[in-house]
Order: sequence, then C-alpha cells, then structure tokens
Amino acid sequence: MEVIIQPTHEDAVGFCARMLARRIREKPDIVLGLATGRTMEPLYTQLVTMHQNEGLDFSRVTTFNLDEYIGLPPEHEQSYRYYMNHHLFNHVNINQANTHLPNGMAEDIAAECVDYEKRIVEVGGIDLQLLGIGEDGHIGFNEPISSLRSRTRNKTLTKETIAQNSPFFSEPSLMPVQALTVGVGTIMEARYCLMLATGEDKAQIIAQAIEGPITAMVTASALQLHPHCAVIVDEAAAARLKMHDYYLWAFETKPDWEKLD
Ligand code: F6R
Repeated sequence: MEVIIQPTHEDAVGFCARMLARRIREKPDIVLGLATGRTMEPLYTQLVTMHQNEGLDFSRVTTFNLDEYIGLPPEHEQSYRYYMNHHLFNHVNINQANTHLPNGMAEDIAAECVDYEKRIVEVGGIDLQLLGIGEDGHIGFNEPISSLRSRTRNKTLTKETIAQNSPFFSEPSLMPVQALTVGVGTIMEARYCLMLATGEDKAQIIAQAIEGPITAMVTASALQLHPHCAVIVDEAAAARLKMHDYYLWAFETKPDWEKLD
C-alpha cells in the first residue's frame, strides 16, 4: 500500500484527479470503478474541468459504481445514479450506455447482484477502483463485519452511515436503510485501488484502516492485502498515522508518484 499525504484538501483532490486523468489517457478504454459521497464531489468537478479545458476523453471509458440505495428510482435526487449524472456523466463525453450502477429498483435483487458481477467480468474486470471511506470504515457500503470475500449483495446500513448520509434527504427518515453494494471480494479483484480521504473526521478510521489489524470490523483494512493500492489523504485525515513521517519521506524519494504501479 502506498500512502500519499498532501498538505491540503485541494492538493489531495488535485493529486487524485491527475492520477485518474493520466490513467484514462494511458488506457482510453479503461474500466473504472466509481464511488459517490462528499469526498468525490470536488474530484468529479476537477475531472469535468479537465474534460472541458484539456480534452480529457471519456468516450471509450466504462464505469461501474460501487453502490445504490434500494428503493430509490434513478431520477430521485439522492439516488447514486442521479449523483453520478449530476456530478460527472452529464458533463463529459461518456457513453451513458457504458455507465453502470446496481439497480436498487430491481424486482429480483439477488438476480440483479449476480448480473452486476457478470457485467463486470464481461468487460474484463475493473482496471482502477476509486474508493472513499465511511466513518465506520466501510468501502462501498460494506459495513462492519461484511465478509472480506463478499460479492455484490444487499446490505443493511449501520446507524453511523445513516447519520452520515441522512442529512442529504429532505426528511432524514426517508433515507433507505438498505443498499446494494459490490462486495469487498469484488473490490479486491480490481487491478488497482485508489482511495481518497480528506478531513479530520476521517483521521481515526484512516489510521485504523491503514495501520490497524486487517479485520471485517473495518472493511477498508482489507486493502492492506491488495498488491496495487494507493491511499491519498490530506494532512487532516493523516493526523493519526503512526508512520506519517515515513510516508512523507517515501513520497520525496519516489520519482513519479502519479504513475500507477
Ligand atoms: C459511496 C461509497 C462510500 C463513501 C463513504 C464516504 O459510493 O462508496 O463508501 O465513499 O461513505 O462518504 P463521504 O465521502 O461522503 O464521506
């Protein structure tokens, strides 16, 4: 695992955007795994700017999002389909047919989960999986005690996650308590994982995920077993890392961090 500490929130987001843009340029038909949430909003804004100003080309890109609420139609403002259209897809030249999210309105949820995994396999797997981290350590909606080998399935959200996300709903009680999420096992099969975490609220869980034991209680800790994973944090989110100075020193000594290897 590579830990990249950037001074500010803007620096961390900018670094992540440049890493992603570089990979899209190197492999124009890349398959991206995408996340939603507050952390990703400025990142997608930067990608849109890169598309507009630098011609970053999404025309051959395929995407698979990590999760979707059960029971929210795509046009619902808090659905993750709406989020992705609003923050990224509507503003770049991506082919909407190549953008995938689990269907939270599916009549047969189990069949939808199997089909989602199948679609990922059919395109050759995820090249680069973008990840945020929940305050309870989740990646996607893989809440504590999710199997570290789990596949796409429905998951009951924790009270922490509901507290984190319900303020987005006009009435907090309208937030679904169930979501579809790709599994930790699915995420671990991506060829490269890139996590972005910013702000002091993430400092404690980032320290647990990166330097704590690998445990299903913090599903992000499974990334310690991933052979190609980078975590980009700002100083606020890095505040509790024991090896903080080592990560900074390693950063200074490596010639090309924006390259993925
Ligand atoms: C959502 C997702 C979640 C978020 C996490 C952090 O698609 O994958 O794991 O990344 O809940 O959310 P924010 O960025 O709002 O703190």
